[in-house]
Amino acid sequence: MSVAVIESLLADSLAQIAADIDAAFDALLPVPDDARDRLVEAMRYATIGGGKRVRPLLLSATAAMYGVDRNAAVRAGAAIEAIHVYSLIHDDLPCMDDDALRHGKPTLHVAFDEATAVLAGDALHDFAFEVLADPATSADPFVRIELVRTLGGASGLSGMAGGQMMDLVAENSEFDLPTVTRLQQLKTGALLGGAIEMGAILGHVPLEGRTHLRGYARDIGLAFQIADDLIDHEGDASVAGKAVGKDAVAGKATFVSLLGPDRARDQAKMLVEQAVSHLASHGSEADVLRALARYIVERDH
Ligand code: IPE
Ligand code: IPE
Ligand code: MG
Ligand code: MG
Ligand code: MG
Repeated sequence: MSVAVIESLLADSLAQIAADIDAAFDALLPVPDDARDRLVEAMRYATIGGGKRVRPLLLSATAAMYGVDRNAAVRAGAAIEAIHVYSLIHDDLPCMDDDALRHGKPTLHVAFDEATAVLAGDALHDFAFEVLADPATSADPFVRIELVRTLGGASGLSGMAGGQMMDLVAENSEFDLPTVTRLQQLKTGALLGGAIEMGAILGHVPLEGRTHLRGYARDIGLAFQIADDLIDHEGDASVAGKAVGKDAVAGKATFVSLLGPDRARDQAKMLVEQAVSHLASHGSEADVLRALARYIVERDH
């Protein structure tokens, strides 16, 4: 396939998953006719029409390679996106990054209030596991429990939350490159890797058949966070939809602070080529994953 055809395949895939994830949140989060309505309005504010939906696309593109039903992949995609959105709501709170802009609109605690933002994050976290454990996601209880275990592992202390703790400590520490690599693998890589793993679980891919997918996931995970740090370093808030220039002010150790922007960018590009090479055993069914790897470093938001 030509580069132009693969790029349009990616654009179509991103648009389709965004529409499907919006529809899933809309259907799964009806506003109740009681005093919880404010909480659900907040959850809907944060989830519907949100970000790039990279994690649901990684999940659904992997699942599609193994012939998984689209509805199952979208439900699992909404679950992992709920975890991602919860992590952003809490990341933006005054006690963490204290940010006022997310996805081009006021952050949740600004649009609502801090207590509602904490609760919306909590409830989205629980929503994710409820959706995965529902037979509508998979009729197979072994698949459901593997999905729950994988998302729990990717979100908690061995994943995103652990990485967020290291990230806060990074503001006041002289972290070296191996430590920053570990931080980023947990903070960002774990959830991206979890998305791919969940697609493989839905596809009943045995563990020994996932080695190349894990290699791909590790490489794009690091590349993704380098791109995020480059956006923070040299991006435009109106394009990024969030505040930029914050890491340097916070004195945070990142790939960009340790390597400088040029070497960090080279490293990200090298990681993407390495990620794509892990997919060599696949034919055109892996084109979305290949294109997504390139998009991850070329993006400006
Ligand atoms: C931003 O993630 C936070 C990180 C984990 C680096 P995304 O770039 O995927 O956020 P969206 O697309 O705005 O939701
Ligand atoms: C946060 O990282 C990643 C999460 C796990 C939420 P950042 O703090 O760098 O994310 P942005 O730049 O605010 O999106
Ligand atoms: Mg942060
Ligand atoms: Mg932040
Ligand atoms: Mg950032």
